[in-house]
Amino acid sequence: MTQEDTTTPIETDGVIGGRDHFTDFDLDSPEYTEHYDEVLDALLDRCPVARSEAFGGYWVVARAEDFKRCAVDHKTFTSTRGFEPAHGNEGDGGMKLYPLQIDPPYQTRWRQALGPYFGVKAVAPLEAGIREHADYLIDSFIERGSCDFVAEFAAQLPARVFFGSFLHVPFDRIGPIQKATDDAIRGPGEGRGAAWGIVGEFLTGYLQERAEQPPKGDFVDVVLAGVETDEGEPAPYEHKLFTMIDFLAGGIGTTSHTLASMAHHLTTRPDHVERLVAEPELRDNAVEEIIRIFAPVTALGRTATVDTEIAGQKIAAGDLVMLSEAAACRDPRVVDNPSEVELDRRVPVNLAFSYGPHRCIGAHVARLVMRTALDEVLRRMPDLKVAPGEAPMFSNSGVARNMDTLPLVFTPGAREVVAAESP
Ligand code: HEM
Repeated sequence: MTQEDTTTPIETDGVIGGRDHFTDFDLDSPEYTEHYDEVLDALLDRCPVARSEAFGGYWVVARAEDFKRCAVDHKTFTSTRGFEPAHGNEGDGGMKLYPLQIDPPYQTRWRQALGPYFGVKAVAPLEAGIREHADYLIDSFIERGSCDFVAEFAAQLPARVFFGSFLHVPFDRIGPIQKATDDAIRGPGEGRGAAWGIVGEFLTGYLQERAEQPPKGDFVDVVLAGVETDEGEPAPYEHKLFTMIDFLAGGIGTTSHTLASMAHHLTTRPDHVERLVAEPELRDNAVEEIIRIFAPVTALGRTATVDTEIAGQKIAAGDLVMLSEAAACRDPRVVDNPSEVELDRRVPVNLAFSYGPHRCIGAHVARLVMRTALDEVLRRMPDLKVAPGEAPMFSNSGVARNMDTLPLVFTPGAREVVAAESP
């Protein structure tokens, strides 16, 4: 069946910013970056399955119900053949992230082994360390009364938590590897490959060191022990390394964006700052709402294994189908007034973390980092504002939504942390 045969006509009223996002969607287009909210709302309202001709073509699924149906049905929609259009659904030179790019039952064995280290109770003891990192970063700019909240806080905290709290890298040795991670994720395009090389080397060395040491009772022991492949073989070393890389890559840019979005939201809603200061019990709701509305993963891919359909749209075997977290989690069929942060609301399922077998394993870590950062921002810089004449800068890169800069001003304060590494 050819692509033309499978395509039923889509209404062509999706023109926003000069581009028809219903028939010519592109995750990387400036029109999507610049009219982000409007495009998502239009897809939800009028185009449950949009078409893109970029990178060989793909579909975009917007509505929550369709999203969930595809996300749970891994037999029809496999994760094994790429998650982003730039690398097509033939994968990226055979390199895969684990468990992101494998299907059950192998994926289930990894999740069962790793899951216990990422539950609410398991991650709770990390809070004190996260708070120390958050305060250390705030110290680096608090006396100045101004900062770029992205570069000086949001882009740094998640990597500091990963290396410090999960890999036990001493506080005073985190700086260089956090910087390499930032260069790999946010640095200029030409330097990213080399920066990923440094990060990969660091993780390889770390796994080798740990393999020679007695178990520490943490998730790295489980990664090193591995699980059985579907062929009944022990997981090869590359699967273990790419599990570590998945945990790093999956948690950094995502949490950075939601941290920056949280600070930006506070600048736009002094009434929310007031309520969150007076009623700390609302802070968990605020975190959940901010992750939902400012979902950092705009869409992640699956590949159809058979000819099928989604919301009446025929999909051919082999087609790449991008499931849009960003759209689905603000579907008005599921959430009233979906684009507003409502501090009294708690949605039962936050699709920003996806759904089904691949739903984010790090969700409780992300929530804890967000909640701890919110506490410290409210305590230390409650009158934060966007610097006069400035505005946050956004970009979309592949599957990610990014806030690139957020210049803030606030009343200067005193430094607090006496740490081994001084800012
Ligand atoms: C606000 C922050 C975060 C958001 C919105 C987010 C979002 C997501 C999404 C949408 C997926 C699903 C992928 C799919 O359906 O194919 C996912 C998977 C994953 N996330 Fe997160 N994530 C966040 C933070 C984290 C953190 C902090 C970690 C690490 C501690 C992490 C580790 C992972 C891993 C390893 C997977 C793959 C799970 C699997 O395929 O079974 N994420 N995340």
